[in-house]
Amino acid sequence: MNIHTKVSRYSQEFDPPVRGDTITADRYTTKEWMDGEMKNLWPKVWHLGGLLAELEEPGDIIRHNFAKESVIMVKQEDDSIKAFYNSCPHRGNRLVLGEMASVPRIVCGYHNWTFDLDGTLAKVQDPDDFEGGTPCGKVHLSELRCETWGPFVFWCMDDDVAPLHEWLEPFPERLKGYGIENWVRVLNVSADADFNWKIIRDNFNESYHLPTIHPELATFINDGLPDTLFEMYPSGHNSMWMKGHQATTRVDYHTSEVPAPLGEAARAWGIDPEEYNGRTGDLREAIIEAKRRLGPGRGYTNYDNMSDQQLVDYFHCTLFPNLTLTMSPEQLQVLRTEPHPTDPEKCVFQHWCLYPPVEGMKEVFTPLGMLPLQHDAVARHSVYGDGVSVGYVADQDLSIGTSQQQGLNSRGFKGCILPGQEKRIQRFHELLNDYVKGASE
Ligand code: FES
Ligand SMILES: [Fe+2]
Repeated sequence: MNIHTKVSRYSQEFDPPVRGDTITADRYTTKEWMDGEMKNLWPKVWHLGGLLAELEEPGDIIRHNFAKESVIMVKQEDDSIKAFYNSCPHRGNRLVLGEMASVPRIVCGYHNWTFDLDGTLAKVQDPDDFEGGTPCGKVHLSELRCETWGPFVFWCMDDDVAPLHEWLEPFPERLKGYGIENWVRVLNVSADADFNWKIIRDNFNESYHLPTIHPELATFINDGLPDTLFEMYPSGHNSMWMKGHQATTRVDYHTSEVPAPLGEAARAWGIDPEEYNGRTGDLREAIIEAKRRLGPGRGYTNYDNMSDQQLVDYFHCTLFPNLTLTMSPEQLQVLRTEPHPTDPEKCVFQHWCLYPPVEGMKEVFTPLGMLPLQHDAVARHSVYGDGVSVGYVADQDLSIGTSQQQGLNSRGFKGCILPGQEKRIQRFHELLNDYVKGASE
């Protein structure tokens, strides 16, 4: 058995130096930092706005509220998608008030100004009462950039940011084999939470917390440090490749009996786990072989384009600044925190799970248990702490958020002390400093 293959090769290639900036508490607690981010960070990045699947017909609209901002994405007559600020050019009223709409034209609820789907003002009350004649045909909704990747629609407020596919590098290429274009969002949950948005970003930028916050994952995900691959890309994004279908090497599972969750995964692919007692690390290879052999017959047509690693491992893609995509062959988790409109000590946490549309499959196993394989089988917004789950594992991550926020407010906290494996946190904050501080100085 060789469980140490391909560990450090990529990290040498994608391991930029860091400066060692102090990660102080004020970035998690103060209005100044929040305002700096609103001015210099959030306009300069692409934001995941929604799903292509929700924009089928001309006039279909999805709305994305982000902090104090609100953006609508509108399907056009020619099948393209345009994004507009959700603000009426007349006197600023918000145009679309629900999460979704399907309309022939966009109508403001205040004085009925009416816009064509391409944002052009088409109808107003008393058109002759304007100096210079009717504003119709001359006034437009304020437009922002809108591009798509895979099943997703993104928007961006800044004209100088790289085009979406370039900005996403290297993920469009790296994730190609999974074939996510037609995956179905089954889970769509979000929650208001009592901590700064970066608390959970930091959490997703390290795996140091796995043994304490998610101890049960160690039975089927190898979080052992020598077996985990970290990469930090020139784009500012990073990834963590963790071996799946293999117990952790932190604990000596490999010479003992196959732990139960791993045994279950083996049985699901027709493998008797008993045969692997004493050499549990070998199960991963056996499952790769079984998935290759049996997968397409079970409807997993996407397996053919995946690498061996993709077939069994977990690929955590952490995009700067606030989007995480966690890939396995049968599930894509989207995890994100967004700032609260006014309070730096609050945020909105979002969790989507998408699944491949395997023919004949009626249900899928999600972080909320078995759910029907259909769009938004569970879609809800809650308040974290009220006992409503945002998904197993994610609940565990969020459980430290409030107490960390409280601790960061202490005069005694002097800045983070990071081990080497948390270098992605260091880099994240240095990039953030460059955006927020660099731009304003
Ligand atoms: S504010 Fe929209 S029509 Fe007046
Ligand atoms: Fe976690």
